[in-house]
Amino acid sequence: MSKLIYYVAATMDGYIATKNHELGWLYDYPPGDDATPYDEFYQNIGATIMGAGTYEWIMKNAAGEWPYQNIPSFILSSRNLTIFSDINAVVIQDNPKNIAAKARDAAKGKDVWIIGGGKTAASFADAGELQQLFITTVPVFLGSGIPVLPVNQAIHVTPNKQRCLRSGAIETIMDIKLMKQLSVNS
Ligand SMILES: NC(=O)c1ccc[n+]([C@@H]2O[C@H](COP(=O)([O-])OP(=O)(O)OC[C@H]3O[C@@H](n4cnc5c(N)ncnc54)[C@H](OP(=O)(O)O)[C@@H]3O)[C@@H](O)[C@H]2O)c1
Repeated sequence: MSKLIYYVAATMDGYIATKNHELGWLYDYPPGDDATPYDEFYQNIGATIMGAGTYEWIMKNAAGEWPYQNIPSFILSSRNLTIFSDINAVVIQDNPKNIAAKARDAAKGKDVWIIGGGKTAASFADAGELQQLFITTVPVFLGSGIPVLPVNQAIHVTPNKQRCLRSGAIETIMDIKLMKQLSVNS
C-alpha cells in the first residue's frame, strides 16, 4: 500500500521555519552533491497534502509557478481559500483518515507526500495516518520557530536509514510504529 511520507527539512532544534515563517536558514545551506536528490524522492510521489499555512507560504514565495503541477494536491483549510484555476489542487476540510484515503486514491499506487507544515503532519501522525518521516536536519539552531511535528501523544519510530552528509546535515528516514505493534511489544 502506498505510504504517507512527511519529507521535510528541520533545524537541529526541531523547527521547520522561524516564527515569522522565514526559511532563509534553509536556503543559505547548500545541500551538497551527496544529498539524496529531490527528483529521486519526487518520482515516487503521486499526490501531495499540505496545510493552508504551507500553501500560503508557497504562493507568496514560489516564483509564480506551482511546483507540483504534474500530480494532484490536497490543500487543507476550513476557510474559503482562493486557488487559481490552473493549479492542480483542491481545498479540502475533513479528518486526516478521510483525507489520507482520498490522497492515496489520487496517488494511484505511488506514495503521498505530506509537505507540511508541522501542524498538518502532526494531525496525520496523531490519527495513525503517517507511515514515514524523511527529515533532513540542517546544522543550525534557531531557538524558536514552527515545530517540526507537534503531536498530541508519543509517536514511536523505527530508524530506517540515516546518513551524515559532508555539509553537516543529517538525512534520517524513520518508519512510524503501528499502535498495535507498540501495545504487543511494550
Ligand atoms: N522546512 C520545510 O521543509 C517546510 C516544509 C513545509 C512547510 N514549512 C513551513 O511551515 C510553516 C507552516 O506550518 P504550520 O504548521 O504553521 O501550518 P500548516 O500545517 O501548513 O497549516 C495549518 C493549517 O492547515 C489547515 N488544516 C490542517 N489540517 C486540517 C484539516 N484536517 N481540515 C481542514 N484544515 C486543516 C488549517 O488552516 P485553516 O486555518 O485555513 O483552517 C490549519 O491552521 C510555513 O512557514 C512553511 O514555510 C517548512
